[in-house]
Amino acid sequence: MIMFSSPNSPIVCNLPRVTIVGAGRVGSTLAQRVAEKNLADVVLLDIIAGMPQGLALDLMEARGIEIHNRQIIGTNNYADTSGSQIVVITAGLPRKPGMSRDDLLKTNAKIVVEAAKNAIAHSPNAIFIVVTNPLDVMTYLAWQATGLPRDRIMGMAGVLDSARFETFIALELGVLPADVKAMVLGSHGDLMVPLSRYATVNGIPMTELLDAATIERLVERTRNGGAEIVELMQTGGAFFAPASATSVMVESILLNQSRLLPVAAYLQGEYDLEDVVIGVPCRLGCGGIESILELNLTDREREGLHTSAQSVRKSIERSQEILAE
Ligand code: NAI
Ligand code: 2OP
Repeated sequence: MIMFSSPNSPIVCNLPRVTIVGAGRVGSTLAQRVAEKNLADVVLLDIIAGMPQGLALDLMEARGIEIHNRQIIGTNNYADTSGSQIVVITAGLPRKPGMSRDDLLKTNAKIVVEAAKNAIAHSPNAIFIVVTNPLDVMTYLAWQATGLPRDRIMGMAGVLDSARFETFIALELGVLPADVKAMVLGSHGDLMVPLSRYATVNGIPMTELLDAATIERLVERTRNGGAEIVELMQTGGAFFAPASATSVMVESILLNQSRLLPVAAYLQGEYDLEDVVIGVPCRLGCGGIESILELNLTDREREGLHTSAQSVRKSIERSQEILAE
């Protein structure tokens, strides 16, 4: 028989671990992205017995074909998530046709608070990324529930909204989507703030390539991006692009890439906004949010951001009432 020889001393590998709470469509697709990009081992947790275990086994069986050796564990027990570097919360209901993001507030507030408390208890050093909607409010609630410093907790929305804006610009111009760079700030919803004057195609300002009416049409489509997919699918919301957007944030943190990305962050005076979570440009590295960039916004953009923040604030107030009931 051919044998492996034993090493002289045992090798201890501390491989990064990402926990994903909520093994639904966004969570399971994110697990696939993280493992297949070879970023980290993944723990997939859900309340449905057997479901995350089945998904994890399926993903494990794809490893030989996809050529990676990451572990994917499925569980219903938070003890299995211990020692995670990153926790992503996708648990909760998605939007159904005709439902606004804020209709989700009541159900998802309790789910997110419970998930955040359980996860932080087992991974006190983790960086948290919230995906559950309504995104900005859920990120605020997770920040409250964990007691984390604001650099270690954030929400994913701006990367997705920006990717949608870039897609629509690329389709309009017939260029490669990766050559288009755009930034969408504000809340994740109808009041988001796509920054048209910062959008470029390989450095060429979009405003020199498209007329104002076309740009306005693309901005409106971006604002309606999530709802457009819900209306088409009728059975839930987007998950491929949301999982890709979240994996970019996970990657920037785990690989300390310091990418400048629009991220829902807790603000303490930036953009003259206080005690609210909203999408702003952030540098993401191994410590989480390394810095927040304050752009010189026009009066109109600034007003848009403040209107957005005002609406998030109202939902935060409502969420506090719900949690106190
Ligand atoms: P889904 O319904 O496919 O998955 C949600 C999962 O959460 C289900 O498997 C469910 O069993 C699980 N879950 C419910 N309560 C739980 C609990 N207490 N603990 C653990 N797991 C629990 O939904 P999908 O499509 O994956 O969306 C998830 C969330 O992400 C929704 O709120 C959706 O609106 C949001 N979303 C946010 C985006 C963003 O840009 N921020 C983009 C896309 C989705
Ligand atoms: C989206 O934008 C529904 O938030 C989800 O696709």
